[in-house]
Parts: sequence; structure tokens; C-alpha cells
Amino acid sequence: MIAPHGGTLVNRIVEGRAREALLARVGSMSRVELDAWGLSDVEMIAIGGFSPLEGFMAKTDYESVVSSRRLANGLVWTIPVVLAVSRAQAQELRGDVALTADGSAVAILHIEDVYTPDKALEAARVFGTTDPSHPVVKRLEAIGEAYLGGRISVVNRPKPTTFLPYRLDPNDTRRIFAERGWKRVVAFQTRNPIHRAHEYLQKCALEICDGMLLHPIVGETKGDDVPAAVRMKSYEALLASYYPKDRVVLAVNPASMRYAGPREAIFHALIRKNYGCTHFIVGRDHAGVGKFYGTYDAQRIFDEFQPDEIGITPLLFENAAYCTICRGMVSSKTCPHAPEQHISLSGTKVRELLQAGTLPPPEVTRPEVAAVLIEAMRDQSIIHRP
Ligand code: ADX
Repeated sequence: MIAPHGGTLVNRIVEGRAREALLARVGSMSRVELDAWGLSDVEMIAIGGFSPLEGFMAKTDYESVVSSRRLANGLVWTIPVVLAVSRAQAQELRGDVALTADGSAVAILHIEDVYTPDKALEAARVFGTTDPSHPVVKRLEAIGEAYLGGRISVVNRPKPTTFLPYRLDPNDTRRIFAERGWKRVVAFQTRNPIHRAHEYLQKCALEICDGMLLHPIVGETKGDDVPAAVRMKSYEALLASYYPKDRVVLAVNPASMRYAGPREAIFHALIRKNYGCTHFIVGRDHAGVGKFYGTYDAQRIFDEFQPDEIGITPLLFENAAYCTICRGMVSSKTCPHAPEQHISLSGTKVRELLQAGTLPPPEVTRPEVAAVLIEAMRDQSIIHRP
């Protein structure tokens, strides 16, 4: 089984006496209320999805990640994982503080560091832009001016209320892969309903791997992305009709989307290594948004590190589409025909068709998936225009 990033799968969930001892002190601790993003980070740290992180980054790690894409100890890490509070609140915080959700303690943060980040530098380096039309750069501007660093101890892990059969922690997926005897496991990251190009990438990868972890993000996503509940129904519909049952594990990834393009591709790959995957699919404009990144930037970044520093093998795919002459899914690597022969629709165009109650062509979206999306649109009008 592939080793987690940094060698050890982190577990920051405390139980038994250690938990009782912390809970006994919670009443006297200062409190920091977590938003959905913070809760998602706490969950990912606690279960080892962000191994080797044991908490929120202190200044040395943060600055090193921003400037050099490595933790202070040299280990590759591309995305800051930080907890922001207002400057005024930061002045009152020291020692152990309770991280709460809806007022109830979820975790204890053992504060090691309180510092003021250079947010403009963070935006420019991590997202490649300071433009607030980037959804997470906008968030970065809005969050508090001080960051808290330190390990966390989760005392009351929130019980999930959604996607229950698909809540698999890294130690669960690792166990399942071992039970199934899978040696080569490919992970697929997604924040969209699966269309034919996604399916093509996955099936190409499945030809050379033993199994696949279909691992959609269900943490925070930008407002006009299709809601996770609808996406999950679309994945179920697709898997039921087009995939062998014993080759795919569907599990939700509780992380939040950063839309950080190349840096997030590395981050996504490292997370999936922690879940026990050996290969990771990176297609065109992975984790992109708008026009902020070049089509293949998220692939090229893998060449800037030694393969053993990343540990999980990226599987890189060209832009894929259906060719009317080849009568199948192709890319420029496999098809000689002109672009006019290729059927591919932008997400916006697909949404427009769905809004009009029209099924997108089967060369773009499987009818089973389109039916789920149209029904969701009728029920709740929850698939917004970008
Ligand atoms: S992402 O933000 O999670 O990257 P999305 O769910 O659309 O967005 O993409 C999932 C994966 O499929 C990414 O690796 C992306 O690069 C890849 N991908 C999406 N569409 C295509 C396409 N038409 N051709 C090749 N790769 C694609």
C-alpha cells in the first residue's frame, strides 16, 4: 500500500481519557466559531486527508508554502491551510481555544502561533492573481486579518447527515483497496456532474489500473457549481449503467475547492495519496476557474518536482471530445479530424439546454445523467447560471 504523504496517516481525533480531559476544560476556553470552510479543513486534518498536517499552519510553514510550495521541512505542499480571525479576536487568544460549530465545541486548537499574513502575496503566489473576480481570492480578502497556527484535537467530530454510504475516511478506503486486492488505484477528482469526457478519462485509466476511487468534492464550492446532492445522484446514475460494480469506489471528499489550478492539482494528488491511491487523473484546466490558468498548467507543474517527492503518479490527459467520424471519444493525440467534427459543449451551454428542459446530446452527457440534472432543475431551480 502506498505510504501517506510524509509517511504517517494523521489522526487528530481524540478519544477516551484524553478527550474527557480536554472536554473538562472547554468551558473555560476562548471560542472561535468555524464557518463551513473551517469545518471542512478541521475534518480533513483530523482524518488524515491532509497528512502530514496536524493542524493549521504556523507562520514558518505558511510562508514556506506560499513562496516555495513546500512545508518548512522541505516536504512538497502547495496550498496554505490556515485559520483566520479578526485582529481584535486574535489579541484575546492564546493557549488552547475551542473551535465551535453552531456554538458546540468540535475541536481544540493548541495555539502555537498568531501572525499577520501577506494576503496579496498569498493570492499572487497560490492563485496566480490578486483579481477579486477569482472566487477564492475574494474569500481571502474577506476573512480575518490574523491567522492562528497550531495542532488540533477533535473532541466531537460532527456527524454527517448527507451522503452517509459514501463517507469513507482515508483508513476506510485504504482498507477497502487492500480487501479488493487493488495495487494500482486511480483517483478522479471532480466538482461537476460527470460528462462523457470525464468518463473517457476514467475508463482509459481503468484500463491500466485495478480500480478507481471516484472522489467528488463536497466541501465548499462556488455558488454556481452544481450542488453536491445533485452531482451525487448523477454519479450514482452513471455508475449503475456504465461501470462494472467491482472496479469503482464512490466516496465523497469533504475538502473545499480552492480553484487554484496547478497548485491545487498537486494538492488534490497528495490528498488522494493519503486515501491510498497510486495514480491521479489530471485533464485540461484541472481545478481551474474562468480564464485564470492555461489549459495544461496543472499538468506541467508536476514536472517541477521529482516524482518521488509527490509519490502518486499523475495521469495526464488532453482535452477530450466525441468525434463524429471516429465515432468515439478522442483527443488531439488520437484523432486526425478537424475540430468541427468534435462534439463538446461548455458547461454554460449544457446548463442552458437543461434549463430549457432539453437533453444535451448523448455524445456530451449520458441520458441517465441528463435526466437527473433536468429533474433537479425542475424541482428546485438549483442549477444556476454562471
Ligand atoms: S475540477 O475543478 O474538479 O478539475 P471537473 O470536475 O470538471 O473540474 O474536472 C475533473 C477532471 O476532469 C479534471 O482533471 C479535469 O482536468 C478533467 N476534465 C474535465 N473536462 C475535460 C475534458 N473535456 N477533457 C479532458 N479533461 C477534462
